[in-house]
Amino acid sequence: MCKSISVIVGSLRRESYARKIALNAIKHFPDGYSARILEIRHLPLYDFDYDDPEVVDKATPPEYTTFRRDIKASAGVLFVTPENNRTIPACLKNAIDIGSKPNNDVAWKNLPAGIISHSVGRMGGYSSQKNLKLALSYFDMPMPGQPEVFIGQSPTLVSASGAITSEKTIEFLRDYVHRFIELVDARRDINRGGRPS
Ligand SMILES: Cc1cc2nc3c(=O)[nH]c(=O)nc-3n(C[C@H](O)[C@H](O)[C@H](O)COP(=O)(O)O)c2cc1C
Repeated sequence: MCKSISVIVGSLRRESYARKIALNAIKHFPDGYSARILEIRHLPLYDFDYDDPEVVDKATPPEYTTFRRDIKASAGVLFVTPENNRTIPACLKNAIDIGSKPNNDVAWKNLPAGIISHSVGRMGGYSSQKNLKLALSYFDMPMPGQPEVFIGQSPTLVSASGAITSEKTIEFLRDYVHRFIELVDARRDINRGGRPS
């Protein structure tokens, strides 16, 4: 069975480097995996009233239901994000919050996760990546260890057409994707329908 990998990009910008890096990372998934960007732009801002059983006059937005279903149907999720004001962009935090409720059916629970951060400066989105790990820390998501992927000075590494121009960076991404896949495969025994239960 083909395993579905959801790739979540923490930028809404048309020319986003994170999106371009994500599209390059997707190319490293071998046969047997279907990796695709799961869009988050359309998700309404998180409001717990939608998930609060005591609030009966605010129905859960259909966008939340579809997003949670798509995450749960994934065998793993790969985040590719820039850094905004030393943390993750609001669109990404919103998506994480939506997937984190309701408490008895958390979409992220036990799902293998990979994280690639980037910045136009030298730090490679270090603070963003650390904050993303903090936000996900409640969900027992297995993640590849070292080396972590911080892509610094991204404009110097991505061409106008979106290709990564540095062989070293291409190899680094390939290695990370393969280590992420190993985690996805390691959890095959407890997968149900392609997703860890
Ligand atoms: C609101 C805002 C805050 C930012 N804060 C940071 C930051 O804290 N650290 C950093 O390295 N870059 C920061 N940047 C620069 C972004 O990393 C840069 O715009 C990058 O290209 C955005 O990623 P994208 O190309 O994937 O959209 C910020 C940009 C914006 C618009």
